[in-house]
Amino acid sequence: MKNIDTIGHVTGKSVYLDDIPTISGTLHAAVVGSAIAHGKILKVDTTEALRLDGVVKVITCTDIPGENQIGGIVEDETLLAEDEVHYQGQPIAVVIAKTERDAHKAAKMVRIDYQELEPVTDPRIAKEKGLLLIPPRSFSMGNPSEVWSHCKYIVDDSIELGGQEHLYIETQGAYAYPVEGGYIKVHSSTQGPTAVQKTVARVLGLPMNLIEVDVVRLGGGFGGKEDQASGFAAMAALAAHITGKPVKLVLPRHDDMRMTGKRHPYSGDFRIGLTADLKILAFETTLYQNGGAAADLSPAIMERTLFHSTGSYYIPNTRVTVYSCKTNLPPNTAFRGFGGPQGMFVIESAIAKAAETIGVSAIEIQKANLLKENDEFQYGQKAENVNARKCFALASEKFDLENLRKSIENYNQNNKYSKRGLAVMPLCFGISFTNTAMNQARALVHIYQDGSVSVSTGAIEMGQGVNTKMAQVASILLGIDISRVKIHSTNTTRVANTSPTAASSGADLNGNALRIAIAALKKRLLKVAAELLECSDDELTIENETVIRNGEPTALKWNELVKKAHLKRVALTENGHYATPVIYFDKTKEKGHPFAYHVYGTGVVTVTLDCIRGTYTIDDVYIVHDFGNSINPLIDLGQVEGAVVQGIGWLTLEELAFDPKGRLLSNSLSTYKVPDIHFAPKSIQCIPLPTNGPELAVLRSKAIGEPPFMYGIAAYFAIHNAIKAFNPSYSIKLTAPLTPERVLMHLYQ
Ligand code: MTE
Ligand code: HPA
Ligand code: MOS
Repeated sequence: MKNIDTIGHVTGKSVYLDDIPTISGTLHAAVVGSAIAHGKILKVDTTEALRLDGVVKVITCTDIPGENQIGGIVEDETLLAEDEVHYQGQPIAVVIAKTERDAHKAAKMVRIDYQELEPVTDPRIAKEKGLLLIPPRSFSMGNPSEVWSHCKYIVDDSIELGGQEHLYIETQGAYAYPVEGGYIKVHSSTQGPTAVQKTVARVLGLPMNLIEVDVVRLGGGFGGKEDQASGFAAMAALAAHITGKPVKLVLPRHDDMRMTGKRHPYSGDFRIGLTADLKILAFETTLYQNGGAAADLSPAIMERTLFHSTGSYYIPNTRVTVYSCKTNLPPNTAFRGFGGPQGMFVIESAIAKAAETIGVSAIEIQKANLLKENDEFQYGQKAENVNARKCFALASEKFDLENLRKSIENYNQNNKYSKRGLAVMPLCFGISFTNTAMNQARALVHIYQDGSVSVSTGAIEMGQGVNTKMAQVASILLGIDISRVKIHSTNTTRVANTSPTAASSGADLNGNALRIAIAALKKRLLKVAAELLECSDDELTIENETVIRNGEPTALKWNELVKKAHLKRVALTENGHYATPVIYFDKTKEKGHPFAYHVYGTGVVTVTLDCIRGTYTIDDVYIVHDFGNSINPLIDLGQVEGAVVQGIGWLTLEELAFDPKGRLLSNSLSTYKVPDIHFAPKSIQCIPLPTNGPELAVLRSKAIGEPPFMYGIAAYFAIHNAIKAFNPSYSIKLTAPLTPERVLMHLYQ
């Protein structure tokens, strides 16, 4: 079925933050960000700004009634800068005015004197200087140092991996208003309503029960609103609290690009060792995560890099270390894959480099090392229901990889200045928040007297279709038509203590909580039905809005049953709580069973290179993906397509450029290029791997949001392969993104 938001989106009726009808007297806020990346604030002069007509107030750190602290994992981030600034765009003041225009105009009139300090933007330099956000962490298995001597091939190299701007269509924003008695209601474009509630409470010095956060939907989040929506919501709430008026704060695109963190760039060094039969015997890597000026989610992202640093492979001897480095860039944050793509990029780079050195295709090495049943991950979990080889085999068969490779070779022999390339990306992505405690959710279900059903969960709709999936879960499990089910906004007064909708777990966690709530309601309803039909309730179920007895429809309809249950004073409301069973992780040993299950797949990307210009087209993407038993194939396919294009963009066109002073140069859509419909692959063919799906996935339908992003990695290596076809002496340089400019350099290296 189609996403329930489809019609609303195309007719423009869907409500986003900026569409919420405002209360009369609403004021508007604009953020004053630091002009420099590192320095001391000598003076903040607001006189001129305050003189502008319509300006109500300029708020600085001294106006904060609670704590000037928004750091979630590490307490290292102010809401408004105090005496130092650590990145360009760092919020220093908030201007409140009667119109949005005046607020922005006045923001430019706030004069700030700085004493500039030397910024650090390179994570390796930060590490040298001892600038770390948290202590380094290492995962290991076996002992690489003991086995290097058994390796026939040993390859060392380095990677330089770029970041990525989220470019959600809806920028960061919030609308906050005082209700009464200090109570503040906040509409926020956030993936984490509880994070917003907690941050607002902290900044205002109020208990959490005086802050209500409500979210209808986001115009995209992609991780960028897991943590970073909180600060902007806190500014709006602070302004509302101080003025006693409703305040709206929506970042202009330019401010959003400059002020918010992005995907983490990583630098790193690796060594890989293989036997004569291409088995990877050992892998060692040290990575430098460019965390930006504050920890934000970097520690958790570092953790997922560690978890995914061996990709879809079994490697018996590993040692992986990540340093989370503090630099003078905006605090980098969650972005689809959450550090996983960066970890996988490194192992795929090592394989590509080994293949080049040995003189085989990377595909031979990939194939020889794919995970098998019961293989151990370096974090101690045993691989179960492994579909890595099945996906690889099905992809080879269905897409006839042998012939595809041959036809590309043929093309390359017959064309001098146009070359094609192909690469394969095997995928294995762990599902669950790596922080075990976050793997919990709640769902609140009301059945009204007329038989209509209201569902509230902790899940945030951000375009990924989680609301549709929740409505499907309710309709399937209650046995009623989906039109009876209303999925409400995500609201902290209806569903408390939510984990952010992230880690691709939104549908699993909230859907399972919903399943639990519905099971309890259904049990009570069937007891009523059993009384009415004078039979035992275990003979009964509900299908097609009808009570079914031993497989035969009865005359008792859903509506009637609900009405009777209400008259019998049966509770028609239920709150379901779900906590993922089985998972645990022991950080002292860096071992455990952190993931409910893994998502597998194989992606193949082909490209064509213009060897005169260095430009390229992404031709075809072929995927065999392990959806489990997909509850909504249409939505899931949409997630695959979007994620693949986003993944390709990350490693090809999307280049973040900072000047040596740490100022973002690629701060608009004319200088930061994202894939458009012309750049998108000519075709994306995705075949589902036939499986039943794991029990811990919602209705056995596997998590889909992030995993297919990683197929984009194949585009990067496909381009390299095309470069090698033109310039056989080219030695792969592991710098990303592989922009046309870089490609041109490599072609004539
Ligand atoms: N799809 C759309 N359209 N918009 C988004 O912002 N975010 C992605 C993914 N797919 C995103 C998206 C990210 S980063 C995650 S973690 C998941 O959706 C979150 O939703 P889920 O847990 O319901 O899959
Ligand atoms: N994934 C995504 N977001 C998160 C995670 C994770 O594992 N942990 C904390 N936030
Ligand atoms: Mo997604 S990066 O876990 O929001």
